[in-house]
This record gives sequence, structure tokens and C-alpha cells, in this order.
Amino acid sequence: MKRAAPVAKAPRFGEERGVQIVIDGLGKTYRREDRETEVIEGFSLEIRRGELISFVGPSGCGKTTLLKLIAGLIPPSSGAVYIDGRLCAEPGADRGMVFQDFALFPWRSVRKNVEFGLEVAGVPRADRRERAERYLRLVGLEKFADSRVSELSGGMKQRVAIARALVVGPDVILMDEPFGALDAQTRNIMQNQLTDILASTDQTIIFITHSVDEAIFLSDRVVVQTKRPMRIKEIVEIPWERPRDRSSMEFVELRKRILSELEKENVMDV
Ligand SMILES: Nc1ncnc2c1ncn2[C@@H]1O[C@H](COP(=O)(O)OP(=O)(O)OP(=O)(O)O)[C@@H](O)[C@H]1O
Ligand SMILES: [Mg+2]
Repeated sequence: MKRAAPVAKAPRFGEERGVQIVIDGLGKTYRREDRETEVIEGFSLEIRRGELISFVGPSGCGKTTLLKLIAGLIPPSSGAVYIDGRLCAEPGADRGMVFQDFALFPWRSVRKNVEFGLEVAGVPRADRRERAERYLRLVGLEKFADSRVSELSGGMKQRVAIARALVVGPDVILMDEPFGALDAQTRNIMQNQLTDILASTDQTIIFITHSVDEAIFLSDRVVVQTKRPMRIKEIVEIPWERPRDRSSMEFVELRKRILSELEKENVMDV
């Protein structure tokens, strides 16, 4: 096996840009008729501007709930999220979200889906078109700009959802398993493109994935979560140069260690 680049002073996204997001004692309990589900409990974390931070945790532990709280789509039961010192109590143009189920408009064309946020923001037509084209190229869908979303494969839909979130240029991008429906090869291409985009902007990405490999490949920090009620089990700093070598000894060993941490959490709730 090849050895990774030495664990030295590799530049990290957002390293010197300071804290942007503060999650302070966040808690969420869903209440429905006679049932209560405590999903998140006393969750606190600071996220740096321009950082790519991933969350990995057992299925159903509350990852999507956490993203929705940061997006301001649902209210917390306790605690709060602040971005640049402002309370995030509702959705805002500073945050873009790529949902686990895409949340696209099936009857609209690919182009019209990507242009949607720009339309809402009142961006003029020609400008909208140009920006949409750029992001469609980035996700490899320029030839499908005029197709209806309902005619696309799952992986293609996922790429439309990614382009739609990125095109608006939000400060913070919340991604809920954005590459989950992609085949291995497309997934690798998208992972590389995402790190390229980040290297040239100061956008912050909060990234949820089931793949420990993907989390290590992409992130400045990987947050390993417990099962419900979700707490932080461990935060792993990944200091290696990009692009990272997935076959290096350090990479393989770290993956193994995080996977075994997760296995301990993966006891099914009945
Ligand atoms: N609107 C809701 N009302 C009641 N319970 C909910 C609601 N949304 C989610 N839950 C419950 O909260 C828990 C966490 O759900 P969530 O979708 O946040 O998990 P997740 O970590 O994203 O799971 P996955 O890895 O499968 O995507 C689950 O037990 C789920 O059943
Ligand atoms: Mg989820």
C-alpha cells in the first residue's frame, strides 16, 4: 500500500476564517398525538467559515433533522443555531439545501429547476441562463437542460438538485446524502468537483453521508454521531492534502476505526 502525504501543514478549508455557525445546546423532540421521539439532545458545535464538515451516524439517528434545524425549516425544542451571529429561525437565502429526496419540480425542465432560486431572487433572464448553464456543465447535464425532470434517472435528478443549490451561491450549503443515488464513478467525479468548487470559494458545506470513505475523502472534519438521541461521539480532523489517496495506509486505517465506532452504534431500535 502507498503511504499518504505526510500529516503536515496541508491547507484546510476555512482554517483562518473563524467561526461562522454556532449550534448551541440544540434539542429536538417530535411530538405526535401520544408519542414523543427525542431525536437530538444538547447538541453543540462550532463550524468555521469555508469548512467542509461531514456527519456520519446510524440510520434514523437524526441527521436530516439536524440539517432541517440549521436550514430553519423546523423549530428546535431547545437551544438555537446562529449564523454570523444571527439566529436561524427560518429559511434564508444564505443557506441552500440539497434534500435527500431531491425535492425538484418534476414538470419543469432541468434548466428551469436550476434557475428556480435565481428567479425567486429576481436575477435577470440572461444572467440566470448563463449561471444555470455553468452549473449544468459542472454536474455534466448540459445536454439535458431542456429535458423534463420526470424523465431523468435518480442519479441525474440528484445532480440537478446539487446544481440548483449551488447556482444561487449561498454562504452555507446543507447537503443531505447528495451523492447517495449516484453510481461509483459519477460519485467520485462529483466528489472531486465539490472540493474544486470549495477551493475557489468561501462557501461552507455541511455534508451528510452514509459513506465513511466519502466523509474522509471530502472533509476537514468528520463528526461521528451516536444513535438516537443524537449526540457527538467523536470529531475527527482530517489534515491531509487534497485530492486524498483512498488506498493510503492512514486513510484505510482511519476508515476502519470510524466504521468500528459506528458499528457499536448500529443496534436497531425496536
Ligand atoms: N416529522 C417527524 N415526525 C415525527 N418523527 C420524525 C419526523 N421526522 C423524523 N422523525 C423521526 O426522527 C428520527 C430521526 O429522523 P431523521 O430523518 O432525522 O434521521 P436520519 O439520521 O436522517 O436517518 P437516515 O440516515 O435514514 O436518513 C427517526 O426516528 C424518525 O422516525
Ligand atoms: Mg436522513
